[in-house]
Amino acid sequence: MTDLLRIDHLSVFYGAAAQAVEDVSFSVPGNAVVALLGANGAGKSSIMKAVAGLIPGRGAITFDGARIDGTTTRARVARGIVYVPEGRAVVGDLTVRENLVLGGYTVPGPARRSRMEMVLDLFPEIAGKANGGAWRLSGGEQQMLAIGRGLMAGPRLLLLDEPSLGLAPLLVRRVFDRLATIRAESGLAILLVEQNLAMTMRLADEIHFLRGGRLIGHKRTDELRDGAARQHAVDTFLGAAAAE
Ligand SMILES: Nc1ncnc2c1ncn2[C@@H]1O[C@H](COP(=O)(O)OP(=O)(O)O)[C@@H](O)[C@H]1O
Ligand SMILES: [Mg+2]
Repeated sequence: MTDLLRIDHLSVFYGAAAQAVEDVSFSVPGNAVVALLGANGAGKSSIMKAVAGLIPGRGAITFDGARIDGTTTRARVARGIVYVPEGRAVVGDLTVRENLVLGGYTVPGPARRSRMEMVLDLFPEIAGKANGGAWRLSGGEQQMLAIGRGLMAGPRLLLLDEPSLGLAPLLVRRVFDRLATIRAESGLAILLVEQNLAMTMRLADEIHFLRGGRLIGHKRTDELRDGAARQHAVDTFLGAAAAE
């Protein structure tokens, strides 16, 4: 498989002194799910934002064979890179349907309508509430809406920032299972940021471990199916809290 996204020697600074990401290189093959796992403050969101073009970074970012670092966020969205930020930033004032329309505002009408149908089929929990205010949704439903809104743009690469944050494990499972379905049906690739290894393994093909802004390890998910190997990865790369 050829790489859809390739990151070479990415560094991110906040001001002159604060380096959040240091010399990070990895790639996301087409139709793959690649996860970045690490504790709070490890630099996960900074990498995502640099890929989305929301913050500047040093290094090279290549998407579908073309350099995109230095291009605008809008240009990256147009290429199919869509960021779903942590904290499910849905617009509470709008209805569920209006939030989805907002996600697909660059898409021509007919395509937008068929995508809306696809998203509502995928998440029946929010389909029944499509005309109600987004503020009425539960946390899990808001996360589904945030992902659904991202899908409305027709992404080729979805950047998913801690979709499990604050959700009960059962809901996370449901959301991840739906993402697996979309990926199988649409050929979408996903760069997933998480803190929880067990949940990440449900969706990801490979996992990069991040600490203090640096990549410190890499495993294919199938290498971690074995309990002892998984425990070893947790002990080596993560804190105990990530093992739950
Ligand atoms: N806007 C910002 N200004 C200054 N420092 C920031 C900013 N955003 C993040 N940081 C710092 O960069 C580091 C990495 O943060 P972040 O990428 O958000 O990590 P993660 O998503 O893994 O929790 C942390 O030390 C954080 O405090
Ligand atoms: Mg973060």
